[in-house]
Amino acid sequence: MKITVLPGDGVGPEVTREALRVLNAVAAVHSIEIETTEALIGGCAIREAGSPLPDATISAFEGADAVLLGAVGDPSYDHLLPNQRPEIGLLKMRQHLGGFANLRPSKAYESLIDSSPLRREVFEGTDLLIVRELLGGLYFGTPRGFGDDNNSAFNTMSYSVDEVERVARVAFELARGRRKRVTSVDKANVLETSQLWRKTVTKIAADYPDVELDHLFVDACAMHLVTNPTRFDVVLTENLFGDILSDEAAVLTGSLGMLASATIGGQIDLFEPVHGSAPDIAGKNIANPIGAIASAAMLLRHTAGNADAAATIENAIDRALAEGYRTADIASGGQSISTTAMGELIARYAAGNSASQLASQGN
Ligand code: IPM
Ligand code: MN
Repeated sequence: MKITVLPGDGVGPEVTREALRVLNAVAAVHSIEIETTEALIGGCAIREAGSPLPDATISAFEGADAVLLGAVGDPSYDHLLPNQRPEIGLLKMRQHLGGFANLRPSKAYESLIDSSPLRREVFEGTDLLIVRELLGGLYFGTPRGFGDDNNSAFNTMSYSVDEVERVARVAFELARGRRKRVTSVDKANVLETSQLWRKTVTKIAADYPDVELDHLFVDACAMHLVTNPTRFDVVLTENLFGDILSDEAAVLTGSLGMLASATIGGQIDLFEPVHGSAPDIAGKNIANPIGAIASAAMLLRHTAGNADAAATIENAIDRALAEGYRTADIASGGQSISTTAMGELIARYAAGNSASQLASQGN
């Protein structure tokens, strides 16, 4: 497996280091050979190479099976136009890699249920997967820009039938391996793109008679996520709706720091935690590395096709949480451990070592 590693900005390098630690530990156990190359993206790339996605980074993608990304975003560039900011590096990379289906799972960890902003009886049993279309809609539609006088601005939301079909198929395929239900989310009461979306998803559903399809308007979906999250299995939606809903779904778990994502369907798969660069806590060794570590598990499942190795990581995460280990974001007033300590713990568990062995080694 050739992996291009992009630690990025803020807490990105800290959490990526732990993801690699765990990945390497599991690779050793499952005899997976991993070769990594590091490159720059985002604010650090602007600073060191003058561009949020330098040519050297694009060259580093050549021959790679997957990209593992930390985070992108740096408040010192907040004054820049959208097309100069660190985030544009991420968007250009997504286009370059070609993955159009962004998978963002969100589930209730039994041991963390009391960290959720939702009541236990509402949240318990939640296990959903957002499939966010990643290469279309308002993010990339043209024309876009500011009016001549700078007193107006505009963006374009557009989708083709092909763009909707290909991501819908990914959602239905994934639903087959889950609870066989797809909820397609749109704003078909207002937007033409959403009417096309709904019609196209309904057409594709005919190829998947074993999967149940329902439709929700995005505002209603936002509401159901907090009132009845267990109603969802696979949530299929366009780019911006998916961006917003996936933060909402993520925070239900107790912390945005827990959530992983995979982007598939293109030439090179991309894996990144859902959280951002969190500049306020960067460099303090307190960020939650679980989102990044779980992204490495998704890499093993989706790119390496090694479900066992992925489960080894996921079980190690479950175990660390079940035993009460917490980073500061989920410690809710209790004891917390550092980013590094959490990564080391999960790496040892994934490699088959026990907590007592870990303790005896002075960690
Ligand atoms: C995400 C992020 C990005 C997005 C930003 C950083 C461009 O919020 O991955 O959800 O909007 O897609
Ligand atoms: Mn987002």
